[in-house]
Amino acid sequence: MQTKRWNMQKEQPNHQAIQEAAELLKNGETVAFPTETVYGLGANAADSRAVSKIFKAKGRPEDNPLIAHVATKEQLSKLVSILPDIAKTLLDTFTPGPLTVVLPSNGVCASNVTAGLSTIGVRIPEHPVAQELLKTCELPIAAPSANISGKPSPTTADHVWADLQGKIAGLVDGGPTGVGVESTVVDCSQDIPVVLRPGGITKEQLEEAVGTVMVDPALANTSDNPKSPGMKYTHYAPEVPMWLVAGMPKNIQVIIDRERDSQKRIGVMASTETADQLQADRIIPLGSDLREIASRLYNALRIFKNGDVDLILCETFPQTDIGLAVMNRLEKAATAYVDH
Ligand code: TXA
Ligand code: MG
Repeated sequence: MQTKRWNMQKEQPNHQAIQEAAELLKNGETVAFPTETVYGLGANAADSRAVSKIFKAKGRPEDNPLIAHVATKEQLSKLVSILPDIAKTLLDTFTPGPLTVVLPSNGVCASNVTAGLSTIGVRIPEHPVAQELLKTCELPIAAPSANISGKPSPTTADHVWADLQGKIAGLVDGGPTGVGVESTVVDCSQDIPVVLRPGGITKEQLEEAVGTVMVDPALANTSDNPKSPGMKYTHYAPEVPMWLVAGMPKNIQVIIDRERDSQKRIGVMASTETADQLQADRIIPLGSDLREIASRLYNALRIFKNGDVDLILCETFPQTDIGLAVMNRLEKAATAYVDH
């Protein structure tokens, strides 16, 4: 399949190109597009044949449900059987934006979107290109991250191209995404909201808006059965093994030196401050605060290639604010955890 690619600026969606992309979606094809978190691979959520093309292109396990994307709250309310007050408050406060709410489905979306669950994840993205595309096609669009399953999520159109070119009908290039980690998934189908996946909206922000918010215990303990089915699969994996290393820069340097002594070439991912204090074969500074680190994380994971380095060492970060999402992704990407 030839993948059609359109280029545009984030703030200036190209109406003609968006129209063409929307036509493909209406015809049951797959189109990748930018959101403020990561690029998504979209298809008509009401059309099970279109949705099955997403699973095929990504190599995604079929028991992992997809998020339905819409432009407005009014459209969102047409996909769920109830909209509890807490969910309304969360939507009013944080959307359009990097939040997904899980609610009882009313069956409008195809059953392969929800992987047969009675609930559906729904989200209103903020990115102007995503907004324009959703408004133009007037459909709920099922869209997981637009990467091959298991690989880091795409934060640029080139990441999508590298993974899915030839396997999807279209790619709308709207430049690099902003937040860099996926939306926060919050189960609002029970009385107390539960964070199933940490993301762009922090637990602290959620609690300020609606009071008590729980975090799925499976996030802390990988042996539990996670409620968000996607959390049980290998995710975000770079090409080479990655160790998460806790401790001060000088402790990290000890490990770098030890591994280099056994002829390994070492890549490092760390905050800019830590990176400045280390010596290795390749060092990627991620930035000076947690927001910046989140926005550069997936690109860094994709930079390290087989043949360039044999092992990546990545610093650990505080699990506050968006650091919770950053550490959640790093723990899934890592092959080992080294503590002192
Ligand atoms: O930021 C994002 O959320 C991006 C952009 C493209 O919107 N999308 C994204 O989709 O990350 P995906 O498919 O890569 O991740 C969706 C997550 C998975 O962990 C999935 O298991 C969970 O949301 N999920 C979806 N529907 C669910 C449901 N009904 N109940 C529980 N978890 C659900
Ligand atoms: Mg994903």
